Amino acid sequence: MKTKIIKVDENNIDKELIKEGAEIIEKGGLVAFPTETVYGLGAKGLDEEAVKKVFAAKGRPQDNPLILHVSNPEEIGELVEEIPDMARLCMERFWPGPLTILFRKSPKVPNIITGGLDTVAIRMPQHNIALELIKLAKTPIAAPSANISGKPSPTSAKHVVEDLMGKVDMIIDGGNTGIGLESTVLDLSGDIPMILRPGGVTLEELRQIIPKTQVDSAIINEEEGLIPKSPGQKYKHYAPKAEMIVFSGDTQKMIESIIIRTKEYRAKGKKIGIICTDETRRFYGEFEDIVVISLGSREKQETIAHSLFSTLRLFDKENVDIILSEGVDYSDLGVAIMNRMMKASSGRIIRV
Ligand code: TXA
Ligand code: MG
Repeated sequence: MKTKIIKVDENNIDKELIKEGAEIIEKGGLVAFPTETVYGLGAKGLDEEAVKKVFAAKGRPQDNPLILHVSNPEEIGELVEEIPDMARLCMERFWPGPLTILFRKSPKVPNIITGGLDTVAIRMPQHNIALELIKLAKTPIAAPSANISGKPSPTSAKHVVEDLMGKVDMIIDGGNTGIGLESTVLDLSGDIPMILRPGGVTLEELRQIIPKTQVDSAIINEEEGLIPKSPGQKYKHYAPKAEMIVFSGDTQKMIESIIIRTKEYRAKGKKIGIICTDETRRFYGEFEDIVVISLGSREKQETIAHSLFSTLRLFDKENVDIILSEGVDYSDLGVAIMNRMMKASSGRIIRV
């Protein structure tokens, strides 16, 4: 398949260009597009045949449900059985934005979207290109992250090209995505509002609206062997080619542990990558043959979130054998950052 790449400026969008993408969606084709979180791989949301192509292009397991993207809260009426009061409050406060809400699905939503579950995940993205594409396509757009299943999610069009060139009809290049981690997935269908995937909207922010919100403990604590409630959380994810170990706890102790391991792996002839922060970078200066990348300042979680996935992809290019990564505190965006690090390392988190 020939993939057409178009460049669009988010702040000055050329509607004619986006219209071309919308027509592809309407006809059942695939268009990758930017959102405020990560790039999505879009298809006509209520069209089973179109949605099947998404699973094929990504190599995604069939039981992993997709998010439907809308351009206006009113569009969800036909997709859901009911809109609970808590959902209304969240939509008012966080849409457009990085919050995906689970609703009881209406019969209009095909089973392929929900992986056979009776809930459907919906969000309204905060990105001019995404919103315009949905509007012009006149349909909710089903869109997982636009990466090959198992790889880090794409935060630039270049990442999408690496993974999906020749497998989709169009890629809309709208520059780097802002947040860099995916949306928060919130389940309001039970008695306790539950975060099934931490993301751009934090637990602390949600608790300002719904104080009893909890986080599904399986998603931040893989060692306990709990089964996550969101199908997507049970799969290997965000994985770089290299083996990865994450260190968590006191900053000074993390540095010491990473330096000890660096010496050990080096003695074995391994090529090592270190993920650190601006505050800690100088401590790894003595190792010239090692690839050290800072995610940004510990004072700015947004920067760390923004650069995590692109850094994991960079290490693939450097062909390192092992990545030793500093962790961050489990607060605010840190919960989502640690969840992605946990998945990327297949749960290898060492508490120091
Ligand atoms: O930020 C995002 O959410 C991005 C952009 C493109 O919008 N999309 C995204 O989609 O991350 P995806 O498919 O990569 O992740 C969706 C997650 C998966 O973990 C999936 O299992 C979960 O949402 N999910 C979707 N529908 C669900 C449902 N009905 N019940 C439980 N989890 C669901
Ligand atoms: Mg994904």
